[in-house]
Amino acid sequence: MGERKRIGILTSGGDCAGLNAVIRAVVYRATGSYGWEVLGIRQATQGLMTQPPQFINLEIEKVDSLLTTGGTVLGTTNKGDPFAFPMPDGTLCDRSTDIIAGYYQLGLEALIGIGGDGSMAILRRLAKQGNLNLVAIPKTIDNDVGITEHSIGFDTAVNIATEALDRLHFTAASHSRVMILEVMGRDAGHIAISAGIAGGADVILIPEIPYTIDRVCRKIKERQEQGKSYSLVIVSEAVRTEVGEQITNTNRLGQCRYGGIGQYLADEICTGIGAETRVTVLGHIQRGGTPSPLERLIAAAFGVAAVDLIAEGKYDQMVTWQNRQVVNVPIAEAIAQYRAVDPDGTLVRTARGLGICLGD
Ligand code: F6P
Repeated sequence: MGERKRIGILTSGGDCAGLNAVIRAVVYRATGSYGWEVLGIRQATQGLMTQPPQFINLEIEKVDSLLTTGGTVLGTTNKGDPFAFPMPDGTLCDRSTDIIAGYYQLGLEALIGIGGDGSMAILRRLAKQGNLNLVAIPKTIDNDVGITEHSIGFDTAVNIATEALDRLHFTAASHSRVMILEVMGRDAGHIAISAGIAGGADVILIPEIPYTIDRVCRKIKERQEQGKSYSLVIVSEAVRTEVGEQITNTNRLGQCRYGGIGQYLADEICTGIGAETRVTVLGHIQRGGTPSPLERLIAAAFGVAAVDLIAEGKYDQMVTWQNRQVVNVPIAEAIAQYRAVDPDGTLVRTARGLGICLGD
C-alpha cells in the first residue's frame, strides 16, 4: 500500500464563528471518506514559517466536538504579511521561502486556506511562488469576498447583531430613547443592512449609501409625531461623518481600527433634535460564540467541497455559495471582485419598501 495522502489546513485573518465547523467537515471528508491525513497548521502561515513547523494531527476524534465551538482551534492572526514580516529587531523580512519550505517539509500534497480576500491574496502568491496546491474557503464576518453570497462567519454575526437590536428595542421603548448600534463590517455594510432589516431598525446607515444628519433627524422626528417615542439606528463602523471624515482609533502600536461613528451620530442627533440617545458598540461580540445553523450548514458544504476539489486535483480554486449551491471559482476571480452592498439590490430595496430610512 502507498503512503497516505497528507493535506494541511490553516485559518488566517480575524476569527469568527464557523471556522471550527469547517475544520471538522474537512477532517470528516478527508480522513473518513478518502483515508487521508490532515495536519492543522497553527497560527495561519506562521505555523509553516516556524522551525520545526507547528501543527496538530487532526483526527475525527479530535474534531468531533468542534461543530458548535467559536473561534479556531488552530489559532489565527490578521497581522504579519509573510512577504514583509516584522522581525524582532524591527526590520521587515520576506519569509515566503520559509513558509514554502515548511509546506514541503511536512510532506503536504495540498493546503486548504480559510481566510478573507487579504489572506487569500497572500496564500495565492505563496502558492504561485512555491508550486503549492491551494484550495481556498472564504471566511469573514464582513461578507465582502467576491462572487460568494456567504462567507463563513457572516450569518452568525448577523444573528448576533439582530439579537442586539431585539434587546435594545426594549430599552429604547421604555425610555423613549434613540438607541444606536454600531456594527462591524470593515468597508462593507452587509451586517448592518441584514441585521437592520431583520431586527426592525428605523434607520440603517451603510458606507455604500451617502446620508445626511438632517434626513436621519427627520425620520426620528416623524416617528415621534406618529406617537413612536423611540427609534433604533444601526450603523456600519466604516460610515463616515457627514463631511466625509473617517472615524478611527489608533493604538500605541500604530494599529488603526474603525470605531466611533455611533457616538458621532448620537451627538449630532442630540444637537439636532434634542433626542436622548445612547450608543452600543457591538465589536468583537459579533465574531464569537456558537455558529448559527446556516453557518454550520455552509461550513459543512464548503469543507466537503474543498476536500473533493483536492481529490479531483483542482487547485487555485475557491469554494463559493451561490443559490444554495457550492460552486468553485478561480481564487484570482474572487479576490478581484470586492463585494460591497449593492445600493440597487434586493436588501436595499426591501429596506426602502419597509419605510426604513437609509439616510439619503
Ligand atoms: O474583518 C473582520 C473584522 O472584524 C472587521 O469587521 C473589523 O473592522 C476588524 O476585523 C477588526 O479587527 P481586529 O480584530 O484586528 O480588531
